[in-house]
Amino acid sequence: MNARLSRRDALLRGAAIGVLKVAPLLGLGDAVSALIAQDKDPARKPTPWNEIGPFYKKLAPNQAKLRGPNDPGLPVTIAGRVFNTRGDVLRGAKIEIWQADHLGLYDLDGYRYRAALVSDSEGKYSFDSVMPGHYPARVCQHVHYVVTAPGHRALITQLYFATDPVFEGDPDGNYNRDPLVLSRELVRPVTLSGDPKAVQANVSFELVLERA
Ligand SMILES: [Fe+2]
Repeated sequence: MNARLSRRDALLRGAAIGVLKVAPLLGLGDAVSALIAQDKDPARKPTPWNEIGPFYKKLAPNQAKLRGPNDPGLPVTIAGRVFNTRGDVLRGAKIEIWQADHLGLYDLDGYRYRAALVSDSEGKYSFDSVMPGHYPARVCQHVHYVVTAPGHRALITQLYFATDPVFEGDPDGNYNRDPLVLSRELVRPVTLSGDPKAVQANVSFELVLERA
């Protein structure tokens, strides 16, 4: 019996004993399908691996607000969901992120622009930061990730930005100008919001782990 069938059976059993309430206008089969759709997506490709780099620090704080009110640099909100390759939502996954400040400097003494987040009941995570700067050892702007969840292989990767000047507006053609950017998939679109005096960048980055 596959996992999808057993989940359906469990939901149908729940309906039989009254745990699952079904709206009168919705058939039981439709209701169960809707519940499964909320919880499960089609199979997904694992997020590509990328170098961990030299600046990882353990014990980063669980804080989603990395940007102070007067921090220089372009504000950016990065958000996404955590899944495994079967499409299961991973709740309670630990997402450690770290990045340089807008000038390309890492905080090696403290935890500025570092965090250890936990995905919520829908597998979501997000944090507010600034667009990382370039630094001499690396060509592209990037954010480092280590993502862990019980029963899954740790994902070590990096997020890149399609607006990085290095790509000259053509991330498809130029993503490998940084020899460490091994996958085009890690270069994510950037959308801007807010008024002209307070522009804000927004990036979506989904994380897909392989099962152990
Ligand atoms: Fe780095």
